[in-house]
Amino acid sequence: MPDRADRQTAQERLFDWYAKHHRTLPWRDRPTPYGVLVSELMLQQTRVDTVLGYYERWMARWPTLADLAAADLQDVLAQWTGLGYYNRARNLHKTAQLVVRDHGGQLPSDAASLAQLPGLGPYTLGAVRSIAFGEPAALVDGNVSRVFSRWHAQPGQPQPRWLWQTAQDWLALPTAQRDPGTWNQALMELGATVCTPRKPACAACPVQPHCLVFAQDLQEAIPPARVRAAPKQVTAAYAIVAREGRILLGRRPAKGRWAGLWEPPGLEGAAAGVQLGRWLLSQGLQADRALPALVHVLTHRRYEVESLVVVVPPGHEPDLQPLGYVEQRWQVADDAQSQTSGLSRLGQRLCEQAGEAGEIA
Ligand code: ADE
Repeated sequence: MPDRADRQTAQERLFDWYAKHHRTLPWRDRPTPYGVLVSELMLQQTRVDTVLGYYERWMARWPTLADLAAADLQDVLAQWTGLGYYNRARNLHKTAQLVVRDHGGQLPSDAASLAQLPGLGPYTLGAVRSIAFGEPAALVDGNVSRVFSRWHAQPGQPQPRWLWQTAQDWLALPTAQRDPGTWNQALMELGATVCTPRKPACAACPVQPHCLVFAQDLQEAIPPARVRAAPKQVTAAYAIVAREGRILLGRRPAKGRWAGLWEPPGLEGAAAGVQLGRWLLSQGLQADRALPALVHVLTHRRYEVESLVVVVPPGHEPDLQPLGYVEQRWQVADDAQSQTSGLSRLGQRLCEQAGEAGEIA
């Protein structure tokens, strides 16, 4: 789309389309800076359908940054369970505390102050500045990247420099300058609902007459599919240690995977089952039976988890420190399966599996 007039028309068409067709989402009606921040952080790496429930629960529990700042980190992590990438939750909590301390509880609008806050990368900065404050700040995410690649028929994997420059060029046009937040959201919305990675709905696309990739019928080839490395296979073994309707949980250390979250005691690695068996013996315990292996898939890892059921005589207190846990507790079995007890998603699934198998009733 080399011609400026042509671009201007394309932009106006996308604005019109967005006004008519955008999805109604809870963070879109009367957006507050805090609501924008929460939704945009949740939406990184997570689908809109999943985020909806999390967003509503989050905002009901902590309606303002000051409420969030006063919350316990454990509760914050528990509320995030299932969204993954827990650093987003830690940074959000930290951000809330800094905003209360340094900015009277209101998210600052200037770029320099925002950029000081933890966990606000270039995408989130662009989203908050444009959507929450109406600033002419560009943003690029996966959807925007695909839309630009196609509009411009950009060959190969689009490079960050080209993408951000292209985003700035489009944003510099008059219609986008009047409403940068809507422009950015319209781009993302088009990518999410029409200009999809596979089988884009070009017939429904307002920008189709301007799209270079459509003109060449290359929309399936541009951008080229990324070759993802196969997820790493990980073997793990966990013990469901049950005693009088409760199960033993350990809290993981503050660093590393699932930091600070609770789970039944377990280990990773090829020899995990043997090592876990040894730990049980050292505690005077023995596995009563094994449950069917559970497969747990993360973005870059595929866990195959063996779980052993151990029934403990009353009064017996196994020590989880040798397994690397920093704290332990006996959790009522039903609560261990709910989303609010601060378990990792895998920990929760293991408890659910044992519950369904009737092992911890
Ligand atoms: N994906 C992430 N943020 C979004 C937004 N504000 N609108 C549409 N899709 C999005």
